[in-house]
Amino acid sequence: MTQTSSHGTCPFDPGVRRWGAPYPGREALRAAGPVVVTEAPAGGPVAVVTTAALARAVLGDPRLVKDTALAPPTWDPRSAGLEPTAADALSLTTAEGATHAALRRAHAPMLSPRRIRARAGAMRDAARELLGGLGRLGDTVDLTADFTTRYPLVVVGDLLGVPRGMLDDAVEACRRMWGDEADGAAAMVGFARLGAAAMAHDGLARELRARLPAGVTDDQVHYLLFALIFAGQLTTDAALGFLLARVLVDGPPEDTAALVDDVLRRDPPAPFTLWRFAAEDVEIAGTPLAAGTPVLVDLAGVADDPGPSLAFGAGPHVCAGAHLARVELAAAVDVLVTDFPDARLAVPADELRRVDPGGVVGSRLAALPVTGLRARDG
Ligand code: HEM
Repeated sequence: MTQTSSHGTCPFDPGVRRWGAPYPGREALRAAGPVVVTEAPAGGPVAVVTTAALARAVLGDPRLVKDTALAPPTWDPRSAGLEPTAADALSLTTAEGATHAALRRAHAPMLSPRRIRARAGAMRDAARELLGGLGRLGDTVDLTADFTTRYPLVVVGDLLGVPRGMLDDAVEACRRMWGDEADGAAAMVGFARLGAAAMAHDGLARELRARLPAGVTDDQVHYLLFALIFAGQLTTDAALGFLLARVLVDGPPEDTAALVDDVLRRDPPAPFTLWRFAAEDVEIAGTPLAAGTPVLVDLAGVADDPGPSLAFGAGPHVCAGAHLARVELAAAVDVLVTDFPDARLAVPADELRRVDPGGVVGSRLAALPVTGLRARDG
């Protein structure tokens, strides 16, 4: 077993670094082996998988499960970033086996490539409207202060049927997810309101409800909708910052979809997978792990490994919103380059900074100041 308590900079440390600077601690982590047992942010050991080949095997291994009931009892759920257990909240992210498969089937049609492609025009309209509104605010605007936060919520909200008038409530609920326990509780009340409002409209939230197995309660549906809204916001928000920065620095891409994939691969909004736990004593690539050991995959660290990108994960829990995210990100790039051709970075690129909040949460640009955000026709 490879034990590393000090492998250079800890990969879970919070901090601020240059936009293009490497992820802290990743090189040393990978040099230590394909499975590295190190100190988890909430204490105790965590096994980190550091190669893409092993990651694919681990992400499909039924002995490694996501139910947080298996998390170390000493962990504080909030600071460890743990969801409720599978028994406490029905969720794609914690369910396994037949329950998980039934949930995925219920979600699949609304997030299918065909359904999502059909919404691309509406996404471009939303991006145009939001960017155009910012352009009227003044000469220099910070895209991460408003656009990258709100656009993903407009997109996922429109998809589910959340009224646009509740956009500020959605922004607030997401913001409070990062606060203390009281904030977290208030955020969940806010998300439940968004879910209830979506269910009152004729959108995909209702369609999801109709597809779910009999006996699923309204509260459970609200939690599923929360997961879509929050997972769709925090990842795409971060990705948009890195993506739009690349476009502003390098100019319009020849192939937008390829640029989106490259940015997600190099700067995965989820730099680690969510937590998994060994359901029994297991051995991974020769490393014995006792039942209950937390396991993570270092998605940021495997960026240069051969094979398809792992930015959206792999296996049964692969991102349910991957098509949506790709189309949504490409729509934002297309609108920026087509409708706002004078948009320019307002600071030298090497002044851009990214903030690592610490733990397993991904980083985000601290600011993306842009000038010339006047619409082509405006
Ligand atoms: C660039 C944007 C995104 C990235 C990089 C991303 C990444 C990921 C990753 C890595 C996972 C797997 C985590 C694991 O196995 O531990 C995941 C799962 C998930 N994502 Fe995304 N995601 C993105 C956008 C979205 C969007 C827009 C939505 C929804 C509208 C979404 C909904 C979900 C859900 C529901 C799961 C759980 C799937 C399951 O456990 O079966 N994601 N995502």
